[in-house]
Amino acid sequence: MKWIALQGLKGGVGTTTAVAHLGEACHRQGRSVLLLDLSPGNLLRIYLGMPWEVRRGLVPALTAGTPWYQAAYRSASGVQFIPFGVESHPLAEQGYSRSVLRQWFRQIRQEAAELQLQEDTLCIVDCPALGPGEDLLLQDLVELHLLVVNPDPGCFASLRQREPLPGAQVLINRLHAESPLECDLQDMMMASPAVQVLPVAVQQDSHVPESLAWKQTVFQAAPASQAAQDFALLASWMLSQLRETEHVA
Ligand SMILES: Nc1ncnc2c1ncn2[C@@H]1O[C@H](COP(=O)(O)OP(=O)(O)OP(=O)(O)O)[C@@H](O)[C@H]1O
Ligand SMILES: [Mg+2]
Repeated sequence: MKWIALQGLKGGVGTTTAVAHLGEACHRQGRSVLLLDLSPGNLLRIYLGMPWEVRRGLVPALTAGTPWYQAAYRSASGVQFIPFGVESHPLAEQGYSRSVLRQWFRQIRQEAAELQLQEDTLCIVDCPALGPGEDLLLQDLVELHLLVVNPDPGCFASLRQREPLPGAQVLINRLHAESPLECDLQDMMMASPAVQVLPVAVQQDSHVPESLAWKQTVFQAAPASQAAQDFALLASWMLSQLRETEHVA
């Protein structure tokens, strides 16, 4: 399996959106995909059409001692995903520290290897946003770790303060292509030798929240949209990047 993590430089930059759309785009390009929600917000499932009332997922499975892969669901379009789930035990909410999330991820990665799942399956992980002073959650445990940012002055400043960022590649989401300020900030991020910015950015597109209101990705609700085009291109870039890593290895 190939492991890819996405984490927001701060909350609300579009990490869960990017995970759902990359998963759908890779699935459409014929890749076997498993999306894993490691974010206690438990929202990835909504992008994939899961009913509100279903509480099952990773955390209930692990706390009940049942295998995590039994918590997997398949979206209407065929993307497999494991929701974070809702744990009704009140003590559980105290336990979602970084070290617990990393420990769960290690366990999943190891058991996935033992299960000998399809070797070229992509597992794309939705991580909770970075907290102040924190390192990337899974940097040393995945093949590709994408740090999601918006091209706004706040993200620009946080990124600058965190440089250098070895091991992370920066994904710019919600770019207003008509904004000179945002284009300048994108150029400045790309010009920085201390961070590696992806050559593909995702533009701001109102079809994204509109699709979410239908519990769908833009690939179902607005297939001709700018966002569908951007996420398809981003998925192609990611797949080519992973192929390059294979060759190097
Ligand atoms: N490219 C985009 N264009 C327009 N809206 C977007 C785009 N990407 C994300 N959004 C919107 O931004 C909002 C937040 O997105 P999302 O939930 O993916 O953020 P997040 O980084 O995962 O947040 P959190 O840190 O709370 O987990 C959603 O309403 C989503 O539809
Ligand atoms: Mg999220």
